[in-house]
Amino acid sequence: MARSTLSFPGNVPAFHALIFLVLLSPISAGHDYHDALRKSILFFEGQRSGKLPPDQRLRWRHDSALHDGATAGVDLTGGYYDAGDNIKFGFPMAFTTTLLSWSIIDFGRNMGPELKNAVKAVKWGTDYLLKATTIPDVVFVQVGDAYSDHNCWERPEDMDTLRTVYKIDKNHPGSDVAGETAAALAAASIVFRSRDPAYSRLLLNRAVRVFEFADRHRGAYSTSLRSAVCPFYCDVNGYQDELLWGAAWLHKASRRRQYREYIVRNEVVLRAGDTINEFGWDNKHAGINVLISKEVLMGKAEYFESFRQNADGFICSVLPGISHPQVQYSPGGLIFKAGGSNMQHVTSLSFLLLAYSSYLSHAEKIVPCGETSASPALLKHLAHRQVDYILGDNPLQMSYMVGYGARYPRRIHHRGSSLPSVQVHPAHIGCKAGSRFYLSPNPNPNVLVGAVVGGPNSSDAFPDSRPFFQESEPTTYINAPLVGLLAYFSAHP
Ligand SMILES: *[C@@H]1O[C@H](CO)[C@@H](O)[C@H](O)[C@H]1NC(C)=O
Repeated sequence: MARSTLSFPGNVPAFHALIFLVLLSPISAGHDYHDALRKSILFFEGQRSGKLPPDQRLRWRHDSALHDGATAGVDLTGGYYDAGDNIKFGFPMAFTTTLLSWSIIDFGRNMGPELKNAVKAVKWGTDYLLKATTIPDVVFVQVGDAYSDHNCWERPEDMDTLRTVYKIDKNHPGSDVAGETAAALAAASIVFRSRDPAYSRLLLNRAVRVFEFADRHRGAYSTSLRSAVCPFYCDVNGYQDELLWGAAWLHKASRRRQYREYIVRNEVVLRAGDTINEFGWDNKHAGINVLISKEVLMGKAEYFESFRQNADGFICSVLPGISHPQVQYSPGGLIFKAGGSNMQHVTSLSFLLLAYSSYLSHAEKIVPCGETSASPALLKHLAHRQVDYILGDNPLQMSYMVGYGARYPRRIHHRGSSLPSVQVHPAHIGCKAGSRFYLSPNPNPNVLVGAVVGGPNSSDAFPDSRPFFQESEPTTYINAPLVGLLAYFSAHP
């Protein structure tokens, strides 16, 4: 069969010409990727919960939620608020920590002076996850009542909503959140291996124990804790993928044979073809395949060959011009998936494109896609285009990263950013008193530098309005993979 390599600016008459023109157009040289990298990491300081350290750079935020865990007799202070609210959701927090770690593992060498800040962002997550897993066979998976919180528009520093503590245990299992927590601890143990060996060992040992709990006591936390976690971070996709994902990170971190065998034994989990191009806090499929393929492409782990085939399939399914019901491109060239907060898909899928491109380059391989094929250079280019779209190369010529570029979202759906800071307005602002700031047409008073919002709709339109939370809310798991992407492009503009 004739194969033509999809290398830009190639001859691609069979495909959707308009999208191809946009996607394969030359990269503009105008972006300061290092500045964007610095800001993408700074954002995590704005999401910090608990007692802030003296070196906190985002100064309009102050201490908050200093008694989290007290009602359960444990210390659960610290960690991250997931988005524009004041809840600590363990599932996306763990996923965020895993992806920040992966960003550092693959692209930390491209971060220059920002590496130390990226490592701090991981540690803010892992310090909390260690607290949440102190008691064997228990994982504290959420602090705060989402209904109570979402009913108010309050600064984290003023918060007086319910701080209910939710946990999973042997009788109320949650292999999804526990599997992701194990993945986060194992991935972070690699980040700290040479920087802080004692901390790294602590992380790895805890990951081993949490994974064992997740695997031995199987179930979905959205069954055990339905009314608390659904519909917010309900595990729709099931827990099998998180178990495999946890095992993959444990294998990478520990090189223990038991995890290799576990992965090979459970590969069947990924046979569900329709989720091949999903990767996010709920669904790990494409991430598992790309992560494990690294060992096939950069080493000689033939026993994982099926994962590489799956990863190839994933790559083919996200190429522009190849019609696929689950991944579309907007007229302006942005990856678009249904379901809200689209930018999470843009950054996580672009991260996988870039990571896989590096592994392929190392192995001097390309991806065969039917009658055509994708080169590492093409994958890199596609990821680069997505990053440039985020930074301002789009029909509205607006950056979707707050504080980057001349035009960026001014009315993000974020309580702390939209209310006056405690420095400016020390008096308490109550639950309903915040509404007038929520409804105000004015820009947010506090710039949450580096926050990337949910982004435009599938027609490249963006309302810049707080009530449109799917478009205007930032989340930690949008930024976590972007940190790796920006690191790479700051070193290879
Ligand atoms: C996107 O938003 C714009 C402006 O609100 C609207 O006109 C357009 O119909 C929306 N597109 C889709 C596909 O929803």
